[in-house]
Amino acid sequence: MVKICCIGAGYVGGPTMAVIAFKCPSIEVAVVDISVPRITAWNSDKLPIYEPGLDEVVKKCRGKNLFFCNELEKHVAVADIVFVSVNTPTKSSGLGAGKAADLTYWESAARMIADVSKSSKIVVEKSTVPVKTAEAIEKILTHNSKGIEFQVLSNPEFLAEGTAITDLVNPDRVLIGGREETPGGLKAIQTLKDVYAHWVPQERIICTNLWSAELSKLAANAFLAQRISSVNSISALCEATGANVYQVSSAVGKDSRIGSKFLDASVGFGGSCFQKDILNLVYICECNGLPEVANYWKQVIKINDYQKSRFVSRLVSSMFNTVSGKKIGILGFSFKKDTGDTRETPATDVCRGLLSDKAQLIIYDPQVPEAQMIKDLSTPKFDWDQPGSTIHIAEDVVKQSVKVVHDAYEATKDAHAIWLGDLVVMGTKRAFEEDLQEFIKHPKHLDYGNKAASVAETKLPLETVQLVGIAGENGISVPDMVVKELEVNAPLPLVTGMDTS
Ligand code: UDX
Ligand code: ADP
Repeated sequence: MVKICCIGAGYVGGPTMAVIAFKCPSIEVAVVDISVPRITAWNSDKLPIYEPGLDEVVKKCRGKNLFFCNELEKHVAVADIVFVSVNTPTKSSGLGAGKAADLTYWESAARMIADVSKSSKIVVEKSTVPVKTAEAIEKILTHNSKGIEFQVLSNPEFLAEGTAITDLVNPDRVLIGGREETPGGLKAIQTLKDVYAHWVPQERIICTNLWSAELSKLAANAFLAQRISSVNSISALCEATGANVYQVSSAVGKDSRIGSKFLDASVGFGGSCFQKDILNLVYICECNGLPEVANYWKQVIKINDYQKSRFVSRLVSSMFNTVSGKKIGILGFSFKKDTGDTRETPATDVCRGLLSDKAQLIIYDPQVPEAQMIKDLSTPKFDWDQPGSTIHIAEDVVKQSVKVVHDAYEATKDAHAIWLGDLVVMGTKRAFEEDLQEFIKHPKHLDYGNKAASVAETKLPLETVQLVGIAGENGISVPDMVVKELEVNAPLPLVTGMDTS
């Protein structure tokens, strides 16, 4: 029986290994982590991450061929394939601060593998890493190997949170990079290919050299984020000219060379990957003497920051230039729907902006614990462009100005404004428009999916709301009819995240 061990039971390692175990009953999969609470949660009924479909997959395999535990060394020692899926945050100090990936966790995992291994192993980079990390890892492994052969592969993960299970079960492609030039490298590539071949069609498994695989992941995320910044930049121009960004993006996306996906204007992209990976790309370009290329990609993040602050300014200016003492209901705090993950969520920037203007925030997000929201809002925000400079709202100010509620009705009661964050993101804009109309007419009849189910059960007191600010990831348009309905009930104008026409 092939034995797989995955170091790191996070958003990537956990779901990926669960699907491998589910699809390959003949393979034994152990997921190990240094965090005791994380592993305890993986072994409980309340998994540490929320992901649609994950519970079912874990329940089917856990205790059979899928195991979660803290005994790292024991499982690494006997594994044939070791996936490394530890966190690789952006460095906040030292060389490359603000841009380069912090490989501390990776390095410690690699040293441990070298230390405990008694048989040859394939070591797979699963977490996104800078190009040429494999070379460094190979060095650590061989210098400490005591004669054991290690083959390093890069197998970047393309899953998106909220759809991780479907992305894993039906991937567009699986990418495996290895030392194609050596027989040992080719054999290792084939071994990993055989694992995925249990359920992924051969033609979707792409094999490349190590560096191409590493760079492809960074490039794919940079391209996706670049599309969002492109459409968000156009949204600013739409507001200035009277064009409608949804009409523009829909017309642009109809060109089959461009395609319609990832063209939804939003308050800005969030999540643990896009910003981190682009900064990483920028750093690699700078280190390779390519400042023009570095500046090109930096601009994608600058537009993202601009979009978030633009939204806050629009909201504040539409409320007579101050939100001081005004109550703003925030529905949805995580970075997108169907996840409780708050890493780089635009909500922290929007809330910080409103808090700086002394607003009172009432936040509702059924997937995010209160302590996490308070921590996110009171943690100093590190400025990637000017390392050393931070924006900080003291914890006591956050605690005084933020109320976290477990009921959407409460978040909107007597609000001067409501910000619909990730909560109202629908599959399509059309569906959202129709739903929003329904929502206003018959609040009880809405199926807002998993997270917003409780919103559907409540009657939002729209007649008491003076202003509704709407911005949602994946873009939200507000049809004329809805605007009119709101105008009747709301003495102040409607502010959308992006386009108001
Ligand atoms: C992303 C990549 O999609 C995935 O392939 C990679 O492995 C990890 O990074 P993720 O960050 O989980 O996945 O979510 P994604 O769906 O890509 O959304 C990222 C952010 O962009 C969210 O804040 C989302 O709301 C926003 N977004 C997405 C837009 O603003 N507009 C869009 O059109 C699409
Ligand atoms: P990702 O989104 O990339 O999966 P997460 O932060 O969700 O990132 O998960 C990374 C996991 O890796 C965390 O649970 C962390 O405890 C774990 N981890 C970090 N370093 C090590 C290590 N040296 N050994 C084992 N686990 C580690």
